[in-house]
Amino acid sequence: MIKKKIANIPFGPFITVLAGAMVNGKPNYATLGAYGVVSEKPVLYISLKNSHYTTAGVVENGFFSVNIPSSKSIDKTDFCGCVSGNKEDKSNVFDSFYDDAGNAPMIKECPVNYLCKVIQTIPIFDFTMFIGEIIAVYANEDCLEDEKPNALKVKPTIMMGSGYFDLKDRVGSIFETYRRMNATDSK
Ligand SMILES: Cc1cc2nc3c(=O)[nH]c(=O)nc-3n(C[C@H](O)[C@H](O)[C@H](O)COP(=O)(O)O)c2cc1C
Repeated sequence: MIKKKIANIPFGPFITVLAGAMVNGKPNYATLGAYGVVSEKPVLYISLKNSHYTTAGVVENGFFSVNIPSSKSIDKTDFCGCVSGNKEDKSNVFDSFYDDAGNAPMIKECPVNYLCKVIQTIPIFDFTMFIGEIIAVYANEDCLEDEKPNALKVKPTIMMGSGYFDLKDRVGSIFETYRRMNATDSK
C-alpha cells in the first residue's frame, strides 16, 4: 500500500445531523457534520457558524436539538444545509414535536432525537461550539433493539468528501475485546 500525502482538509467521515432551534417563534433546522460527544457524560456538542439562523435561536433560548436523519430524508437534509433560515422559512420542511423540558424543536421523521440544554459555549474562529447536556432522548419504536437505537434500523448517513453514504453491515461488537479478555481471565 502506497500512502499519498493529500490536502490538509478534514475529509471526514462525519455523521450527518440536523441541529434544531426555535428562531423568532418558529422551528429551524441546519445540517451539521460538526457534532459529537466530549466525555463520558451525557453531553453533546454542535459547532455552528455564528452567522447561521439556527445559531441565533440557540443563543436566545439556551436549548438545541440534534436529530439523526435516516438516509431516506437525504434530500430534505441537504436542503437544510444549503438554504438558510435567514433567507427562507424552513419551519415546514419537517414536522416538529416538542418536550416540555426545553425550548427546541425536534423532527418527527428523524428516528433519533436529542434535546440538549446549553451548559457551555466555546467561541472558535467564526463558529461557536455549543456544549449541551442531554435532557431528553426520543427514538422511533421500530428502530429499537433492547431499548437502544439499532444503527441498521436508524439508517444514519455519513458524509465524506463530496458524498453522503449509508451503512451496510455490522462488522463487530463494541467492547468485544474486554469480553474475550474476561473470558480468558476466568478460565
Ligand atoms: C453536509 C453539510 C454539513 C454541514 N455542516 C455544518 C457544520 O458542521 N456547522 C455549520 O455551522 N454549518 C454546516 N453546514 C452549513 C449549514 O447547514 C448551512 O449553512 C445552513 O443553510 C444554515 O442554516 P441556517 O442559517 O438556517 O441555520 C453544513 C452543510 C452541509 C450541506
